[in-house]
Amino acid sequence: MRTQVGIVGAGPAGLLLSQLLRLAGIDSMVLERRSRDYVEHRIRAGVLEDGTVKTLERAGVAARLHREALRHDGFTLAMDDGEFRVDLAALTERSIYVYGQTELTRDLIDAHEAAGLLPLFEVEDVQLHDVAGTRPSISFRQNGTEQRLICDFIAGCDGFHGVSRTAIPEHVMKVDEKSLPFEWLGMLADVPPCHHELIYANHQRGFVLASMRSATRSRYYIQVAADEDVADWSDARFWDEVATRLGPNVAPYVVRGPALEKSIAPLRSFVAEPMQYGRLFLAGDAAHIVPPTGAKGLNLAAHDALLLADALIERYRDQSDAALESYSARALTRVRNAENFSWWFTRAMHRLDDEPHSRERQRAELAHLRNSHEAQLALAENYLGLTKEHPV
Ligand code: APR
Ligand code: PHB
Repeated sequence: MRTQVGIVGAGPAGLLLSQLLRLAGIDSMVLERRSRDYVEHRIRAGVLEDGTVKTLERAGVAARLHREALRHDGFTLAMDDGEFRVDLAALTERSIYVYGQTELTRDLIDAHEAAGLLPLFEVEDVQLHDVAGTRPSISFRQNGTEQRLICDFIAGCDGFHGVSRTAIPEHVMKVDEKSLPFEWLGMLADVPPCHHELIYANHQRGFVLASMRSATRSRYYIQVAADEDVADWSDARFWDEVATRLGPNVAPYVVRGPALEKSIAPLRSFVAEPMQYGRLFLAGDAAHIVPPTGAKGLNLAAHDALLLADALIERYRDQSDAALESYSARALTRVRNAENFSWWFTRAMHRLDDEPHSRERQRAELAHLRNSHEAQLALAENYLGLTKEHPV
């Protein structure tokens, strides 16, 4: 088998990349370890930057998003008895869009299906070969048969636990990794949200986030200890904790219902640099993980896919490697800024048992944010996604 760009992984990064390439007349093939059903039902994040929405429009997959996504012009930050709204639209004339990654993944797979180019699902034992040479290839097994896909370029979009990153020799790669001693326990339920916008609250018992997927589907997260077992969290215990942490002003509006899903997300960051080796390019979670506070993961994956698609388009159109050669540095500039922001937001809003006086620092920080237009502007710019990044 032969294709121009072999793509490992049918998450948002891989699917968006193949869709953008197809629209530019470049062939690709997506290889995915899981089944279509599994990929389409995975519960993940749900906040899109406006820049991500523009990329999805360009990819021709934003029709349902425009019908169903909720535009949010602000969000609330709360600590102890105080709370205030960050008015994103007034500060920046930009908004975020609430639309589940699950829905986005379905839209992308549907677009592939409509073009008759579905990813190859349930492939096993994917291995990358000769990525430093001019004829890289990917071997894999499908229905028990060994296959080999010869490519011009390979895009490693196979997430944090994928194989692509391991094709970059250790002596070439720098890894920057950090994790926190607590996690998020997330719950999805078919109940109306407690508020029309997101609420991030720093309670003395720990962080809580009231989020949503639609007007009838809520997503809540609470900070829990790192060794916590989901099985210990009955629905009733989870709802009680959410209500306590959101405080007496919001608790009466929390509508309870059975959990559709509960899962644990670690709070860690991971950056692999460079994101390129020879003809292999990493995109999305394969190269970087951000703490979930601020919902940057999906947006970074979409940004990588856009940069890589444009660099490949330039390569095939102009025979120029310039954009491919600067891909890693340009993608990482945004990644590093998102890491900084996500860590800052995490440290401002969570219970930090190993940091003496953290609550006093957090109280001072939130008081400053509440009172400073400039501080809110910086927060809004980061939350909405930076627009003024310069190539390095
Ligand atoms: N072979 C083939 N496919 C693989 C392999 C492998 N060895 N390993 C992993 N995959 C697949 C996974 O099953 C998954 O479908 O690669 C895909 C990677 O998708 P994501 O993990 O969604 O990563 P990405 O596309 O970079 O999107 C990042 O997802 O984890 C969230 O918060 C993150 O929202 C962000 C987004
Ligand atoms: C989510 O709804 O999954 C979500 C929203 C905002 C965040 C993180 C996660 O900051």
